[in-house]
Amino acid sequence: PLARGKSLTWHNMDITRNLRESQLGQKAITIWMTGLSGAGKSSLANALEKRLFSMGRHTMLLDGDNVRMGLNKNLGFEENDRIENIRRIAEVAKLMNDAGLIVLTSFISPFRQDRRNARDIIGESFVEVYVSTPLEECEKRDVKGLYKEARKGNLQHFTGISSPYEAPENPAVVIDTSKHSLEECVDILLEGLEEYLKSE
Ligand code: PPS
Repeated sequence: PLARGKSLTWHNMDITRNLRESQLGQKAITIWMTGLSGAGKSSLANALEKRLFSMGRHTMLLDGDNVRMGLNKNLGFEENDRIENIRRIAEVAKLMNDAGLIVLTSFISPFRQDRRNARDIIGESFVEVYVSTPLEECEKRDVKGLYKEARKGNLQHFTGISSPYEAPENPAVVIDTSKHSLEECVDILLEGLEEYLKSE
């Protein structure tokens, strides 16, 4: 029998990513936010998307909890499920980049190897943003009460407590949401991302 993949053929279509990008008047990138639970990834991604949208950019936001309630509802938080979570998100981000969109993602994505894998899938459009809000601050915020549960031992594999978080080694931008207001954070991000957001 033919090996898996050997029975498939890639079709090159006439309407290419370049054509879609030029019709939309922008360069498609994926702004990949990584950081602890409660670091502010979702709020930041939401605020940044609003700003980009108001600048006339064509955007799409893929957010942790939301994607886990739909596309990835069959996945949990054990290592293999997190790997698959990130792989699927990277593939979706790539499709959306191919559609010409600026994609923002906000997932903990705690493992370096998985983010490397996402970068391999997405290619040079992958731009890593480290939301570096310290654990103590995230735990103090504990917006969803999950840190408290994790400390009590009621939540397995909780990032930062009972599962590791591997900080990026060479992110394009680092932002600590405990040091600035939300709008200041967006300004810092836009400045740090300027070269990637140029439309030519
Ligand atoms: S990952 O690691 O990238 O696959 O995680 P992600 O898809 O971003 O999902 C993180 C949100 O799920 C909630 N949650 C947990 N997070 C970490 N560890 C465990 N065990 C866990 N269980 C549930 C949590 O609300 C995360 O939301 P954020 O928005 O990051 O706080």
